[in-house]
Amino acid sequence: MEKIIIESEQGNTVALAKNKTNTRNLYIESYGCQMNFSDSEIVASILAKEGFNTTQHLEEADLVLVNTCSIREKAELTVRKRLEKFNAVKKQNPHMKVGVLGCMAERLKSKFLEEEKIVDMVVGPDAYKDLPNLIQEIDEGRNAVNVILSKDETYGDVAPVRLNSNGITAFVSITRGCDNMCTFCVVPFTRGRERSRDPQSIISEINDLWKQGFKEITLLGQNVDSYLWYGGGLKKDFASATAMEQATAINFSKLLEMTALAQPKMRIRFSTSNPQDMTLDVIETMAKFRNICNYIHLPVQSGSNRILKAMNRLHTREEYFELIDAIRKIIPDCAISQDMITGFPTETEEDHQDTLSLMEYVKYDFGFMFAYSERPGTLAARKLEDDIPAATKKRRLTEIINLQQQHALYRTQQHLGKVEEVLIEGVSKKSDKDWMGRNSQNTVVVFPKENYAVGDFVNVKITDCTSATLLGKAEGYSENN
Ligand code: SAH
Ligand code: F3S
Repeated sequence: MEKIIIESEQGNTVALAKNKTNTRNLYIESYGCQMNFSDSEIVASILAKEGFNTTQHLEEADLVLVNTCSIREKAELTVRKRLEKFNAVKKQNPHMKVGVLGCMAERLKSKFLEEEKIVDMVVGPDAYKDLPNLIQEIDEGRNAVNVILSKDETYGDVAPVRLNSNGITAFVSITRGCDNMCTFCVVPFTRGRERSRDPQSIISEINDLWKQGFKEITLLGQNVDSYLWYGGGLKKDFASATAMEQATAINFSKLLEMTALAQPKMRIRFSTSNPQDMTLDVIETMAKFRNICNYIHLPVQSGSNRILKAMNRLHTREEYFELIDAIRKIIPDCAISQDMITGFPTETEEDHQDTLSLMEYVKYDFGFMFAYSERPGTLAARKLEDDIPAATKKRRLTEIINLQQQHALYRTQQHLGKVEEVLIEGVSKKSDKDWMGRNSQNTVVVFPKENYAVGDFVNVKITDCTSATLLGKAEGYSENN
């Protein structure tokens, strides 16, 4: 395969895999979580072997794939709107085929074909290796569906084609599926049971990325702290593994250590941590290795014990505080971020106040906040009435967003005057005279370019901030460079 260097929108050079002998064009669009973006890179890799090059121009596509999200109703509506656009393009380009991938494909299955006439193919998250067969079906004029969920598929043997990459940061998936069954969440239904990927394949992917010039990776999973490798299979079957398999099993803190040691100059991040599965040894491993970033995305969803229980989040507010205290003690400058849901069924004003007071305690660096959206098939949808009026959900959401904004500013102000290591990712959106990168805590840092380059690790003195961005001036290369 030949590598062609193209200019990305940010002006950085990125390598796209183009094979001269490939004759068809794939246009792939992703919605939702990072895992979907990572999955699309797996799909592009599988299809590269089937004669497809990726294109960024919808009009020249032979095959359009949309990797969909079901997490909230709005995410699904966005995809449906997008399908209307594809319909318009298909009128000009009748041979164009359209496939839906991901969570909506899994949730709606063949119903999708009836509901959206434009769709030729429906493929669930565990069925991407079947794409060559499915594409043959649609080439022959038939619709194709594969939504079978797997107990062992991790795509560990597929080398992803990096799409829309800045050439510096990349995602590496380590688990698939989720066994947690939070009552509001559709993911366990659309992505199936939890599986961990072979650590050797994770390490070799990271080594390859380093060779290609990547400087930072994010280990991805719905619930990374639950990672457990004992030779393959579902986590729930661990008890029936042999004594040898159990004794040599690799958990998340061990995997973190292995990745940190494999590439000591590679920055390592991970997402997402569920508080109920995060253990002290993970925090201690983070503290032990300077290349593991000081940032934990630790969704809590609600500050009310009653609501946490109704959500089937298996920890209390008090246990969450204990975890926060442990993180602050072991890694004093660790950034912490949240996901929150407002207006879960039966949520009272008092429950909402508990959320606000929990936020006051933690003072999160960042946050991702949502109004509850009932998802068909979930336990909450089956057992609880979606009884909080939209206006109340929205008002509570605005209140927590405003509070988060204050806390974000409080946190960015703590960086003022410090000198921090920043990995340059690209040109600042606001000015082409400035670089944009991130510090260990994942906060965006903007500073004048001088003679530095994308991919450099630079020590930056922080001189100013907004609630979302740090501004500063470079003082030289960091020791990691
Ligand atoms: N473990 C996952 C979380 C998946 S969903 C991860 O890796 O990110 C991301 C967030 O979406 C959740 O933390 C939750 O805050 C939100 N979310 C999930 N289901 C939702 C629903 N039904 N309504 C509103 N928000 C939801
Ligand atoms: Fe969803 Fe809870 Fe898993 S939010 S992805 S069921 S940890």
